[in-house]
Amino acid sequence: MLKVLFVCLGNICRSPMAEFIFKQMVAEKGIADQFEIDSAATEGFNEIAHEGIDYRAKDMLRQMNVPFTEHYSRRIRPKDYDRFDYILCMDDANVEDVQSIVGLDKDNKIHRLLDFTEQPRNIKDPWYTGNFDDAYWDIYHGCQAFLEYVEENKNGTKTL
Ligand code: 4NP
Repeated sequence: MLKVLFVCLGNICRSPMAEFIFKQMVAEKGIADQFEIDSAATEGFNEIAHEGIDYRAKDMLRQMNVPFTEHYSRRIRPKDYDRFDYILCMDDANVEDVQSIVGLDKDNKIHRLLDFTEQPRNIKDPWYTGNFDDAYWDIYHGCQAFLEYVEENKNGTKTL
């Protein structure tokens, strides 16, 4: 069982999109039962407001035929570091914020999602850019590359 937590600032745009895109990817490969997949925020305001997924992210998922259920924003907690094998962030700021919440990344679990691709970079926040298409494709390619990584069992890290 590989436990994967996607993280962004608000947990209403990028990380829930990543959660459901990755869930669909592993379901289509018939390996969903080998994963636990969740998403979380670095900030707590959307958890306090009990915010669900942004309607523009939902529209994007519907447009791409990615099934999803409702997900309410929750802030990452220190215990999530022990619970998950991979904590996959959308940008550098998320990585810094996660580290400040969970402490030292002693097991090298915290990464940017696009660091598994040929072009390591941040995924721009569509909450600010309004560009949910770009966010979708960045997340899609990041999830594909991450899945290849865990399937290929590289570097002796925890993989399938
Ligand atoms: P996300 O985008 O980190 O991709 O979920 C944001 C969502 C909400 C806010 C900021 C970013 N916000 O300020 O409420």
